Amino acid sequence: MRKLAVALMAALALVTVLAVGSGLAIGMAGLGVVAVVGDVHLLPEGPPPGVKGRPWVPVIAADAEARRGLPVDAYPHDCAVAKCVALTFDDGPGPYTAELLKTLAAEKVRATFFVLGEKVAEHPDVLRATVAAGHQIGNHTWDHRDLTGLDAAGVRSQLTRTADLVRKVAGVRPALMRPPYGASDRKVAKELEGLGLPEVTWTIDPQDWRGMGRDAVAAKVLKQVQPGEIVLLHDIKRESVKAVPRIVKELKKRGYVFATVSELLAPVVVTPGVQYRGLL
Ligand code: NI
Repeated sequence: MRKLAVALMAALALVTVLAVGSGLAIGMAGLGVVAVVGDVHLLPEGPPPGVKGRPWVPVIAADAEARRGLPVDAYPHDCAVAKCVALTFDDGPGPYTAELLKTLAAEKVRATFFVLGEKVAEHPDVLRATVAAGHQIGNHTWDHRDLTGLDAAGVRSQLTRTADLVRKVAGVRPALMRPPYGASDRKVAKELEGLGLPEVTWTIDPQDWRGMGRDAVAAKVLKQVQPGEIVLLHDIKRESVKAVPRIVKELKKRGYVFATVSELLAPVVVTPGVQYRGLL
């Protein structure tokens, strides 16, 4: 049933996105997606290239690699029903990301990684391992620039350069972006709309970049979490990575399941250029 639900969801998403096309194209798109899901090939995330500024439903990758080692019934989570939280990790891949992947695999938890293009260039194997484990990849620009300080071409370049490298290295296209410092404005939003990228920020920020210990990071997160929230952490911070086992164990005790951002936002219509902080 789960598999059928995924197939239907993916087919609906593509049909929605392609609704501008002819009836024949819609029918073929729907059939194509079902076939792809049935064969469990890797699905590119997000709307097809060239579709701009239209509402779309995130397509959830249903590939065999992503599900290896994961219980099938845990993929994907329906956050319209389940008590979901999305853990997100920014600014990597870095030297501690591999340890984090081990922790997440041991707990059978998936997360979302907002990666920097320049770090992907340094650690391509880590990005591949992240994708293979079923985690979602978001675009966090090339080198962490404040996008509000760039012109339109600069904003586009920061995102397309990163997206192109992610695709080349790991075969997926980031369907979401997170602006460095959460800094965005109307000009940035207009470019994101053109690129087909929704903006994802967060509701919970323990400010782990300040350099606190693991217990403090875990305590700050655990004190605040509510269903449907997005937690901001940094996998380039050793203590944050060390805090994850405690955060996961405690949230599981409270009945949470761990969704990728696309899963978390699946119950709403996600629109490029619009900012999302959580399922609120
Ligand atoms: Ni960042």
